[in-house]
Amino acid sequence: MTRSFVVLGGTGDLTGRLLLPSLARLYDSGVLPEGSQLLAVAREEWDDDAYRGWARDRLVAHAGDLPADSHDRLLGRLRYLQGDVTDATDLRAALAGVDGEPVVYLALPHTLFRPTLTALAEVGLPEGARVVVEKPFGTDRADARALNELLHRSLPEEAVFRVDHFLAKQTVLNVLGLRFANRVFEPIWNATHVERVDIVADETLGLEGRAGYYDRAGALRDMLQNHLLQLLAIVAMEPPLAVDASSLPARKADVLRAVRPPADVRTGSVRGRYTAGTVDGRSLPDYVDEDGVDPARGTETYAELTLTVENWRWAGVPFRLRTGKALGAGRQEIVVRFRPVPHLPFLGAAPEPDVLRLSLSPDAIALEVNLNGAGDPFDLERQVLTARMAPHDLPAYGLLLRELLEGDTTLSISDVEAEESWRIVEPVLAAWAAGEVPLQEYPAGSAGPAG
Ligand code: BG6
Repeated sequence: MTRSFVVLGGTGDLTGRLLLPSLARLYDSGVLPEGSQLLAVAREEWDDDAYRGWARDRLVAHAGDLPADSHDRLLGRLRYLQGDVTDATDLRAALAGVDGEPVVYLALPHTLFRPTLTALAEVGLPEGARVVVEKPFGTDRADARALNELLHRSLPEEAVFRVDHFLAKQTVLNVLGLRFANRVFEPIWNATHVERVDIVADETLGLEGRAGYYDRAGALRDMLQNHLLQLLAIVAMEPPLAVDASSLPARKADVLRAVRPPADVRTGSVRGRYTAGTVDGRSLPDYVDEDGVDPARGTETYAELTLTVENWRWAGVPFRLRTGKALGAGRQEIVVRFRPVPHLPFLGAAPEPDVLRLSLSPDAIALEVNLNGAGDPFDLERQVLTARMAPHDLPAYGLLLRELLEGDTTLSISDVEAEESWRIVEPVLAAWAAGEVPLQEYPAGSAGPAG
């Protein structure tokens, strides 16, 4: 059966930077069937040729390593429809314009999901259709519930794909192998042996022209509520029966249910916003002076939360999640800090306890341990055991699109997970909106808000 993509938001940053390049890779590797069509829908008054010109530039910029003829093959399949994605008549025309079972991809700002899904529910979807929704899944828990309800009106849960591309990152998938295909880690993967877990996504990038979306989202909704909570879920979940669509999302949902927001948001959360500064030799203006930013929204560009997981395995272990834009150094990693050994049969200062670093960028796993020193064999020295993996053939979005085409929702976020993730952050969002936690400023290029 031919599959056709209908990309709502076909001229957006996500489509140009990630979706089209990944689709070109799938064409190139033969995963995307030859007859597949791609229809992009957006507001711009363009025709097919203008769209193909825009798409070609995006492919050159973001999939320049592929041979030109594979760009051409994708471009030959692209068509464009000018329309309003929240309008049932335009959506009906879009669905009528493609053959085969459509994959409707909402590559849109989260604030447009509800009106778009309302219009789609009105139009109705053909048998075999799938719908893909980007993150953040709505604006809050009530919105996520409404989105789930709208989706379930015309589709079974197996036909819904809620995207979180962090799940398709190599190191994140490697956490599954590390934890569940080895004897050595799982017995110590609990509160008896683990002191704390840090989940960090520090970015050097600033707003990158995305104010239209980002200023209405902020760091907590953009990264922490979805990507970082998914990392927490993968690290903290119980072993799944199988790495498949019926077990993996269910085990992640279980552990998300056990996550508690900070008891006191004033001590358990940090909220920051960058001011002018230099990052990697580039000058960035104050966040509030970026085009399209409304200072009255008080949007944060840095968010930090300390959460607990209230179950037998993790009681008392803090999970600290942190993300920020325009920071001095980029870093994406999960750091598992173990407790000290119960007795140290060596003289001298106690060494640092073991630390396991699961780095997402670059993909690597490093275990910091204490070994006998090279000089005096009774002295201890720190050694790092590192595994660096060759990159996957497909980038995260490519892998997700392949799973989607195969109808496999193992790496999709389930309806329950989406709503639970909002439950966790909602008290924080409410306290921040009420001004209970100050918005701290940090210069672009710094290490973030002090403390
Ligand atoms: C996106 C966020 O989901 O993830 C961006 O919207 C962020 O703000 C990006 O920069 C980070 O993902 P990656 O894969 O580039 O590390």
